[in-house]
Amino acid sequence: MPNPNSNSNRNLEQKAGLGKQPKPQYRSAFRILSSYVKPHRITFALVVICTIIASVSELFQPYLVKVAIDDNLMAGKNEFGGILVICMIYFGLSLTGLLFTYLQNNLLQYAGQSIVAKIRKQLFEHITKLSMSYFDKKPIGSLITHISSDTEAVNQFFNQVLLTLLRDGLMLISILVIMFQLDATLGMYCLVLLPIIAVIAISFRSFMRNTYQMARTRLSRLIAFVAENLSGMNLIQVFQQQKAQTEQFKERNDAYYKANIREIRTLVLFNRSFDLLSSLTIAFVIGVGGKAVLGQTLEFGVLYAFITYIRQFFQPINAITQQWNMLQSATVAVNRIWGVLDIRPDVMDNPQPLRINSESVHGRIDFNHITFSYESGSPIFRGLDLHIHSGEMIGIVGTTGAGKSSLVSLLCRFYDVQEGSILIDGNDIRDLSQAQLHRIVGLVQQEPYLYAGSIIDNVRMFDKTISREAVIQACEFVGAGSLVRRMKDGYDTRLSEHGSSLSAGERQLLSFARIIVFRPRILILDEATANLDSQTEQLIQQALQVVSEGRTTIIIAHRLSTIMQADRIIVLRLGEILEAGTHKELLEMKGFYEELYHHSQGKTKKQGVQTTPKGLIGIV
Ligand SMILES: Nc1ncnc2c1ncn2[C@@H]1O[C@H](COP(=O)(O)OP(=O)(O)O)[C@@H](O)[C@H]1O
Ligand SMILES: [Mg+2]
Repeated sequence: MPNPNSNSNRNLEQKAGLGKQPKPQYRSAFRILSSYVKPHRITFALVVICTIIASVSELFQPYLVKVAIDDNLMAGKNEFGGILVICMIYFGLSLTGLLFTYLQNNLLQYAGQSIVAKIRKQLFEHITKLSMSYFDKKPIGSLITHISSDTEAVNQFFNQVLLTLLRDGLMLISILVIMFQLDATLGMYCLVLLPIIAVIAISFRSFMRNTYQMARTRLSRLIAFVAENLSGMNLIQVFQQQKAQTEQFKERNDAYYKANIREIRTLVLFNRSFDLLSSLTIAFVIGVGGKAVLGQTLEFGVLYAFITYIRQFFQPINAITQQWNMLQSATVAVNRIWGVLDIRPDVMDNPQPLRINSESVHGRIDFNHITFSYESGSPIFRGLDLHIHSGEMIGIVGTTGAGKSSLVSLLCRFYDVQEGSILIDGNDIRDLSQAQLHRIVGLVQQEPYLYAGSIIDNVRMFDKTISREAVIQACEFVGAGSLVRRMKDGYDTRLSEHGSSLSAGERQLLSFARIIVFRPRILILDEATANLDSQTEQLIQQALQVVSEGRTTIIIAHRLSTIMQADRIIVLRLGEILEAGTHKELLEMKGFYEELYHHSQGKTKKQGVQTTPKGLIGIV
């Protein structure tokens, strides 16, 4: 059996931008981040001060030892007092270094985490405002990456890259200055080494970047694969694909393992060649300096201090070089995050929206000559006209793909029409704020979404202004009362994510209660009863009769029995209204609806026999 997953995974990665990393644009990334740094500038100034104090205390220590050697030990002074003072100062410096490093780390963490938390919140807020057309194009996986690992990369930028650049950059310059102060000739010798260090660092840099990117890309592939498999686990088990999928997983896992090993090997090689270079330099300094000490042109203490400083000199270079990768991925991450933040939603609120009283909306709906196509395809509707009176109950039927859900999406303004207009009570829905529109229009879909939380909160959608009593009343009303009472904690029972502990029908009952609580003036059910057994459907049907009283109601239904009572039934095909009228009128027309009706009747009579007449496949 050919495996369907291999290709789709690759597509997913490509769409998620995981396959190839975009080139980092440092300038814009820095400009963006600096605007976030501004509110924390005092904290950052304190970090700089702490870093300077900590570095100075650390740098001063070898110098103290030099003083002990040259001015006390070698000078032949026979008094312990001076040495003791130096010991105490040395200890004091260590404590100061410790304290200020601690402060610096904490302050930086505080600022960095606050900034990242703010970015994360902004990003989430922004994503919730984007239009459905965006989510059609964007795989969820890549949005999760933006909110989790991209923001984490920004955090690492503050806590690693920035800190290293600041601390180690400062160290490097100070050490060079001190070395020259101590002995200019030896200092010059060490300076000669700098180009060699640069060559090694640069040659390793590009190699390290490649291995680093390779490891990240392979990890993303692995995660995408696992995510896809977890969500399709039942299919994998039903089709007995465990072995094939495990094979594929093994392939990706091995690739990631190899990339990791390669990354670590490169890093070890790099670190050790730096160590070697450092040892060579020390040997060289001992040689040259030793000769000078013997020739009495150099004090012994200076030589000691030099050797210590050379060790300290290599460590920051190494650290800065290693932060290069981090800097790159942080830059890419910042650009990716701002790529999302820069997207303007396709559906925007009118800057001066009409203010109408949602309660007093009558619910007249006019689709005036609308033309609409999704981004990827030919128009679904071409100049469609549909006028619905206030309080009317409309049933919509049609084959799968006829455009029933699209029509509803347009009324909810998940998308905007390209031509024509949609009016509610004569007001263009583009002139209402989206918040107000969604108060007026309530939608129940086939797959209701329940959140992790109590039943009460799920029904009132965490809106605390809706009372507990109203929720209970609504649940009883749709017949969900007995279901809830059977649960462990009644209305306070906590549901797991997606409400996965409930059956599809039970979830749907709760979503009906939800819509009743919110009392929209226009109620839409899009195949909402498809998952209910006929007994529960009847309960809903009765509730619906009461709820739809005085409300405009649009019902898209699987079973014709659900919409037979409608004031008007619209038969939709390929985005056009084929027939319209009451159940009785449509039957008399002896057209498409009659065909549908007889088919559904036939099916119920034969009870479960799957006889789908040719030409009616996929009829809903
Ligand atoms: N988000 C979308 N992006 C692109 N095309 C879509 C999208 N949603 C639906 N379509 C297309 O629009 C047509 C109508 O779909 P839909 O309104 O969902 O039909 P129905 O609800 O009647 O089954 C179909 O051909 C479908 O492929
Ligand atoms: Mg649909």
